[in-house]
Amino acid sequence: VTRTVVVGVGSYLPARIMTNEDISKVVDTTDEWIVERTGIHQRHIAADDEMTSHLAIAAARKAIEHAGIDTQEIDTIILATTTPDQTFPATAATVQAELGLHHGAAFDIQAVCSGFVYALTIADTFIKTGQSKTALVIGAETFSRLLDWTDRTTCVLFGDGAGAVVVKGMEGEGNNSDQGILTAHLHSDGRYRDKLYVDGGPSSTQSTGHVRMEGREVFRHAVVNIAEAINESLEATGLSADDIDWFVPHQANKRILDGTAKRIGLPPEKVVLTVADQGNTSAASVPLALDAAVKDGRIKRGQLVLLEAMGGGFTWGSLLFRF
Ligand code: ACO
Repeated sequence: VTRTVVVGVGSYLPARIMTNEDISKVVDTTDEWIVERTGIHQRHIAADDEMTSHLAIAAARKAIEHAGIDTQEIDTIILATTTPDQTFPATAATVQAELGLHHGAAFDIQAVCSGFVYALTIADTFIKTGQSKTALVIGAETFSRLLDWTDRTTCVLFGDGAGAVVVKGMEGEGNNSDQGILTAHLHSDGRYRDKLYVDGGPSSTQSTGHVRMEGREVFRHAVVNIAEAINESLEATGLSADDIDWFVPHQANKRILDGTAKRIGLPPEKVVLTVADQGNTSAASVPLALDAAVKDGRIKRGQLVLLEAMGGGFTWGSLLFRF
């Protein structure tokens, strides 16, 4: 049996920090409003000359170092992003070149905030079907570039950053035979595509556009959809919420996360939260949170970790793995 084991994690945040106080100088808002409604205190914003590929490469290098592998072992790069450097080629191709790789496959996937969970699920499938032996999976965003800095209902929510994991196919039974990705469940429902979207694109406006969102509608669907996807992962493995050591959710908003944890019966001390310091970094938020909790020693080898995400589309999903 081939298992897809997470052998390394890494992340990168741009140096520049924008506090709620800073944002209150740009739009009519207050630190108090933002903290109360979202739990966000600050976010990192990429420098003008810093692109998604730069963030992705920095996170990838750290994940490769943490994995202790030779970079040349990587045969697949899957980059989840909504903010590619260019319309094409895929930003993954830039990452591949910068890492000195010219074998295997490199491509981007687009599922907005759910992108990393989608990408890791694809990598798992590649490994289990023999397409890949060692894959680099990245979530990287310069989401600040898509924000309408005159719209206080959206610009306060997001930030920039990148996170990455290296996953490896491991064979055989033995002591660690349940280590690796156990199950994943992905969903989308395009009927809700106008609840959260960017009002532009190469085919429609030949421009990029800005984020538009019906916040309340997103909030309402998020808690229900995420809890359903999590229950699917638990049912598929015969595990219960009590078995989960760490819950590493997409960091959209503290209130959504509190609501989700409560709904599935997870105590707050098992939830990894980075939203206060990073805001919502879209596809980067799950690997950024995962890296934070691995590097500070909370998540240990052998522990059961639950990932989830939800984003534009709507797209959503959950993934359960033993670290
Ligand atoms: N500062 C001050 N006031 C604000 C701000 C702001 N930044 N933004 C909105 N307001 C005002 C509104 O104008 C409105 O004023 P009004 O009553 O005079 O019209 C009032 O606050 C209430 O607005 P609501 O939109 O009803 O506020 P709500 O409590 O729903 O909170 C929020 C808004 C935080 C966006 C919430 O709906 C939410 O968290 N939604 C989820 C959205 C999300 O997380 N999206 C991320 C992308 S999707 C994902 O990753 C899952």
